[in-house]
Amino acid sequence: MFFFSFLYSQFFVTPALPDHDFSNQTIIITGSNSGLGFEAAKQFLALHCFKLIIAVRSTSKGEAAKQSLLETNPHISASQIEVWPLNLSSFKSVRAFADRASSELERVDALVENAGLDGGRFVLSEDGWESTLQINVISTCLLAVLMLPKLRQTAERFKGTPHLVLVTSDTHYWARFEERNAEGGILRALNDEEKFNSSDRYAPHFLLAEGKFRFPALQSQLKLTFHPPLRYATTKLLQILFIREFARRLKSSPSASYRPILTLPTPGLCHTPFFGQMKPPENAVSHPLGTVTHYAMKGMLIALSRRADVGARTIVTAACAGKEADGAFMMDGQVREVVGWVLTEEGRRVQEKVFREILAAAGVKEGDLV
Ligand SMILES: NC(=O)c1ccc[n+]([C@@H]2O[C@H](COP(=O)([O-])OP(=O)(O)OC[C@H]3O[C@@H](n4cnc5c(N)ncnc54)[C@H](OP(=O)(O)O)[C@@H]3O)[C@@H](O)[C@H]2O)c1
Repeated sequence: MFFFSFLYSQFFVTPALPDHDFSNQTIIITGSNSGLGFEAAKQFLALHCFKLIIAVRSTSKGEAAKQSLLETNPHISASQIEVWPLNLSSFKSVRAFADRASSELERVDALVENAGLDGGRFVLSEDGWESTLQINVISTCLLAVLMLPKLRQTAERFKGTPHLVLVTSDTHYWARFEERNAEGGILRALNDEEKFNSSDRYAPHFLLAEGKFRFPALQSQLKLTFHPPLRYATTKLLQILFIREFARRLKSSPSASYRPILTLPTPGLCHTPFFGQMKPPENAVSHPLGTVTHYAMKGMLIALSRRADVGARTIVTAACAGKEADGAFMMDGQVREVVGWVLTEEGRRVQEKVFREILAAAGVKEGDLV
């Protein structure tokens, strides 16, 4: 079902830029040197945002992006765009960024957590976590939590409604996420190198029957691990679980009147440098047909894609969405249901567990959140 609604969205829906005025607002966008983040930056400026923080792991790439934004927006002064370093593969960098934002910025009206990657290969971060897990999930959630006081302060002082936008993906529908019942903990299981690249755990459901790949002969012949998102889909699901639980807790916290709206947009499949990260899995490389399949798949994805500026409109829409979108997944600028099992009793239990585990991994005490 999801596959058909995905195709419908890609072929027949063109999200529109919201009719919203971001005057006086300060907006932080992570990973805004390229792709969707860069296009979203352009759109926020076009909608009159006052200050833009380009949060990037490479300040030279960030400065190049700033230059390009200034050239296309001659009415904007150079001081309205700042490039700040942020490397999500390091908790130290995330904490330094949040400290700086909290002390130097007068207000933060939207924190757009857009940076992310599809690692594909198992690489450990300096903090000892598999990199995709740390960058897309643990550090991204840590930044969200650390920025909460500033977002609240902005709500109180400027009587507005700040937004915390985490750019997620419809690939979360594909994640089989068997680790959800892992005895030693979910994140610990996901950090196990031996289990990292098992393709049939993450293959789209239409290729599976009773949890097994439908075409085992073909799979072994081609060494078929062509499905690109692998770990990526799981990290996108974890983002959704974390934000849903975060929003649920914020709504019932004593300081509920001053809180940001938390949104989870998917931009849809978009043509960005992201596709450049998709490398053939190691076992596909060892077989020529595996490599051919990989590149055929990549070509097909590019053919299906939206332009990056069209996808970015969904991010800008999520940064000014109303209360109905609080804690919700959004597709084409509208609230959509997440994958079904998340709404079950098991889903609620796993959501809470994921939230607690991520906080613990990021070194945050639950009590500090309220
Ligand atoms: N493109 C799609 O079809 C699609 C679909 C659904 C969701 N998304 C999501 O949209 C977001 C943006 O992706 P995109 O398509 O625009 O790809 P992109 O152009 O590759 O942008 C990714 C950004 O994340 C940054 N980044 C990667 N690792 C980082 C780290 N350790 N610390 C800080 N920044 C880091 C990258 O910086 P560098 O340039 O330095 O590498 C880049 O600026 C991602 O979260 C992605 O999951 C994309």
